[in-house]
Amino acid sequence: MKSNNTPIGIFDSGVGGTSIWKEIAELLPNENTIYLSDSINAPYGEKSKEQIIHLAKKNTDLLLEKGAKIVVVACNTATTNAIDILRKEYSVPFIGIEPAIKPASLQTKTNVIGILATKGTLTSDLFEKTSSSIRQKTMIKEIEGKGLVSLIESGKIASIEMKKLLESYLHPLLKENIDCLVLGCTHYPYLIPQIREIVGNKIQIIDSGEAVAKQTKAVLHKNNILSLATSIGKHQFYINKNKTVLENLIINSGISNCFVDQLSF
Ligand code: SIN
Repeated sequence: MKSNNTPIGIFDSGVGGTSIWKEIAELLPNENTIYLSDSINAPYGEKSKEQIIHLAKKNTDLLLEKGAKIVVVACNTATTNAIDILRKEYSVPFIGIEPAIKPASLQTKTNVIGILATKGTLTSDLFEKTSSSIRQKTMIKEIEGKGLVSLIESGKIASIEMKKLLESYLHPLLKENIDCLVLGCTHYPYLIPQIREIVGNKIQIIDSGEAVAKQTKAVLHKNNILSLATSIGKHQFYINKNKTVLENLIINSGISNCFVDQLSF
């Protein structure tokens, strides 16, 4: 087991997992973090289960090499396809991200919830398992957000292209009388302003960020590895592609003590 002041490791298929990192950094300001953005391999959502497991292990190995005390899999697709294997093969604790369909099912009044996620998440056994009990009471309308991750990775969050793609996914969901929309991919919280414009104020948009940060804190506490530092944490980011998009997201997060480097991995 690692010591308290070693960093929390976080990885994602790209820059989207910084939506989770931000929640963790805000909840646990004295923790150091290391974030891997595997942007060269994004999107994971269109890869096979075997490929996703391979990439998840590669990222985990690098985080452990860099001293991570726990690993947050800040990617729905990697969680739903690889977390069981990671937990079996490594001794550090893992935190995964599952689409927040359970909280949505507790909040819906129309009993119809929408979920926007990648193909890799929607077709995973874990998603099938977790959604099947909820489907007994609540209708779940799934839609694959094909192309959204690639646009976010290219910095085209506020583009016309993005608006059109989102409209083509969300208009059919609105016709199904959904009142909650689950964002089942850690990239998608960056699209909330655009999504809000399309769905209006009556639909609840639900993501997993805050719950994951709380779960991270609980796991650190349980394993007695919460940081003992009183100074603010240092946040190191590594990306295996051009770093501009990542840098901009980090600057906009308002969190200080962040360092972004390009690295081959
Ligand atoms: C992707 O790489 O396709 C999206 C990552 C996610 O599912 O959170």
